[in-house]
Amino acid sequence: MISAERIPNNVNLSGNKRLQRALEHWQPKYLQWWRDMGPQGFQDYHQVYVRTAVSVDPKGWAHFEYVKLPEYRWGIFLAEPTPDRRIGFGDFYGKEVWQDVPGEFRNQLRRLIVTQGDTEPASVEQQRWLGQRCPSLYDLRNLFQVNVEEGRHLWAMVFLLHSHFGRDGRDEAEELLERQSGNRDKPRILEAFNEPIENWLDFFMFTMFTDRDGKSQLMSLSESSFDPLSRTTRFMLTEEAHHMFVGETGIARILERTSELLKESGYSEDVRKLGGIDLPTIQKHVNLWVSLSLDLHGGEVSSNAASYFANGLKGRAQEARYEDHFVKETSYTLQAVEDGKVVTRDVLMRHAMNEVLRDWYVGDCLGGITRWNRILEGHGLSDRLYLPDRKFNRHIGQFRGLHFDPWGQAVSAEEWARRRYEWLPSPADKAYLLSIQNEPIYEPGKFANYIAPPRKGINNQPINFEYVRTEM
Ligand SMILES: [Fe+2]
Ligand SMILES: [Fe+2]
Repeated sequence: MISAERIPNNVNLSGNKRLQRALEHWQPKYLQWWRDMGPQGFQDYHQVYVRTAVSVDPKGWAHFEYVKLPEYRWGIFLAEPTPDRRIGFGDFYGKEVWQDVPGEFRNQLRRLIVTQGDTEPASVEQQRWLGQRCPSLYDLRNLFQVNVEEGRHLWAMVFLLHSHFGRDGRDEAEELLERQSGNRDKPRILEAFNEPIENWLDFFMFTMFTDRDGKSQLMSLSESSFDPLSRTTRFMLTEEAHHMFVGETGIARILERTSELLKESGYSEDVRKLGGIDLPTIQKHVNLWVSLSLDLHGGEVSSNAASYFANGLKGRAQEARYEDHFVKETSYTLQAVEDGKVVTRDVLMRHAMNEVLRDWYVGDCLGGITRWNRILEGHGLSDRLYLPDRKFNRHIGQFRGLHFDPWGQAVSAEEWARRRYEWLPSPADKAYLLSIQNEPIYEPGKFANYIAPPRKGINNQPINFEYVRTEM
C-alpha cells in the first residue's frame, strides 16, 4: 500500500486517488529495479547519511538522516507556481501557460519527457558498481546521494506521464524500467547513457559534464509552456546543482593531490609511479565526457528543435535574458560541413536551437575548466586543462564520421586511428585507473592516495564522519 506520507509530495497525492493507484502499481517495479540495477552491494546492510527532499521551501527542502537505500523516500515535488505565468517564447508567446497537455503537442511532449526520464535511471545503472571502488566514505555517500536523486528525477517524470498521458503514459513509465544502460537489445535512448562508468575519474567527469547537460536540458524544459513540466524541472535543478558540485570538487581534489605529488617528487617523477593520476589522463577524460555530452544536445541543425521552440515546448536556457522571443526571421551562424569541408553557414535561428543551447553549455563548462586551472596555477604548475573543440569525437550531428583533433583541426582517418589514444582514454589508462582503485576505502576520514580530502564535510558534519554505516 502506497501512502501519501511515505511519498513526500506537494501534489496532493492523497487527494488524487487515480494517480495514487497508478503509482501503487508502478512503485513495486521501481523498487525491484532499484535492487537489481541500483548500487550493488549496498542495499541491505548499510545506512547512508543522505538528504531527502521534503518540501520545496528554498531554505529547508532537504532533510538529512541515515537511510537504508531501498527505504529512501522518493518524493514528488513541483516548484511553487508562478502567478499568472505566461508563455515566454515561440508562436504562442504571451498567452497563458497550459496546465494540461494540448492534444496537438501530446506526442512531442511525451517524447521530451520520456527522453529526459530515460537518462535518470540510466545513470544509476551506469554507476552501480562504483561503491566497490570508492576513494572514501565521504565520496561513497555522495555517489549514493546522486543515485537516489536520479531515482527521484525518474519519479518526477513518471508523475508527469501518469498524471497527463493516460494509458500511453503508464506504458512509457514501465518501459523506463525495462530499458537498460548498455543493453544490446534494449539500450537507453541516448548514447552517453550507455557508456560504462567504471572508475571514479569517469564518475566525477560524468557528474561534471553529463549532469551539466542535464542542467542545460532542465533549464530549457523549465521554460516550457506546459506548466507542470516547467515546475517539475525547476525543482530538479536544485538537486542537480549538488551533482555538479560532486563532479567539480571531485576533479578539483584529484588535481590538488596530483599537484602535491608532483611537488613532492620535485616535478621530475611520473605521478603514476607515486600512485597519482597524471594530468594527460585527466585531460583525456575531459575530452571524452565533454564530447559525449556535446552529442546529447542533438544535431546542429534540427527541425525538431525548431518545432519544439515554435510550439513553446522547450525554450532556451534563461529565455528571459533574450529580447526577441519569436526569433522567426533571425539567423544564426554556425560551422557546417559541406563536401567534407568545414564552412560557416547561416541558418534560421529556430533550426539552430540545439546549437544555441550547446553554446550555453560550453560557456558553463568553460567556467569549470577555469576554476580547475586556478588550482594548477596555485601550485605553480604551468600545465593547463582545456575544453576540446566541439567538433572533436562527435557521433551526433554533422561532424559525425569525420575526424578532428581536440583543437578542431581536421585529421585523416589514419591519423585518427594512430593518435586517438593521445586524446582519449586508452585501455592502458583504464587498466591503470582500475589498479589504483582496486581497494575501496571504508574507514571514516581516510582517503585514497590519488585524491585530496574535501575542504568540508556534508551538512556541516566533520570530514571523518561515518557517512555510510555498516549494520552488523
Ligand atoms: Fe537527474
Ligand atoms: Fe543529476
